[in-house]
Amino acid sequence: MIRKDIKALAAYHVPDSSGLIKLDAMENPFPLPDDLREAWVKELAQVEINRYPDADMRELREQIAEQEGLKPEQVLLGNGSDEIIQMLLLANDPGVCVTPAPTFVMYDLISRWLNRSVASIPLAKDFSLDADQFLQVCAREKAVVAFLACPNNPTGNLWPQETIEKITKGFRGLVVIDEAYAPFAERTHTHLIAPNVMVLRTFSKLGWAGLRLGYVLGDADVIADLNKVRMPYNINSLTQASARFFLKHSDVFKKQARDICFERNRMTASLMALQGIEVFPSQANFILMRVQDADGVFQALKERGILIKNMHAQGGLLSQCLRVTVGSKDENNAVLAALREIMS
Ligand SMILES: Cc1ncc(COP(=O)(O)O)c(C=O)c1O
Repeated sequence: MIRKDIKALAAYHVPDSSGLIKLDAMENPFPLPDDLREAWVKELAQVEINRYPDADMRELREQIAEQEGLKPEQVLLGNGSDEIIQMLLLANDPGVCVTPAPTFVMYDLISRWLNRSVASIPLAKDFSLDADQFLQVCAREKAVVAFLACPNNPTGNLWPQETIEKITKGFRGLVVIDEAYAPFAERTHTHLIAPNVMVLRTFSKLGWAGLRLGYVLGDADVIADLNKVRMPYNINSLTQASARFFLKHSDVFKKQARDICFERNRMTASLMALQGIEVFPSQANFILMRVQDADGVFQALKERGILIKNMHAQGGLLSQCLRVTVGSKDENNAVLAALREIMS
């Protein structure tokens, strides 16, 4: 029957957002431009839906590799980067997984599914990461894999390059640099790729969350091994066709990412001007803030038709914290107006 520890878990909860301004999941707020939508639908109409998808996805991997300046053999695709985290934890040597805390919850959750223990290293109050402490815990735990979300979710900060490099050089296990928020950050880390260093990406935050497509970049031999635990046909034909099409129009999404960064900076400054809110600087498409009563503010926003993410229940550094996704200008103005009212 079902394992006891699985029974004790709660299923991943996605709150109902119907009728609300949805700013809880770091989605891109912009709908597809009409001309692009029409051309995309024409592409999709060509898909032979009676056939299995292209299992090798050579063309799509070539497009991504070209964009990254790497070889197609260095690219592996997943049904969202969540699926790749699962593949990485499945294929890696048995042993401890190390993560900073707080960070993206799926590293911990998937480790538990796979009976792998997790050691977490608390971030400092300003969410900085102590590389020496990180390496000490890796050594003490004889860890085999570490995840570094750069920028980190839910804190939004990007640890300095020296911190990341110190960890990649000092740890013999696999270091996964998760760059889910790369489109909004000042720096990426593909230059650090090595047999024990991989870079994880997703298209979800760039504007295609509904497609479920992520990829990992790494050493070609490691990618070939990881490919052995990939479900056959894990990327469906419609996603493949859509991604091939959208990659040819990546300028549209890059421009949207720039607009989101502009709005993020405007939001950060406006939130900082409000009484009773501590705002943390972000290099992602969301902003973390701390208030006196996170549950109360969360509820008051919801009553005004705005759904954000309440992080308070996670405790520790996230006590009284709320995370808001950067939306369109109108959505952000609605958040600011509501907060002005709530905080006054
Ligand atoms: C740091 C980080 N990695 C990975 C993911 C998962 O993204 P995907 O939609 O590709 O599964 C997220 C989603 O929020 C994230 O914050």
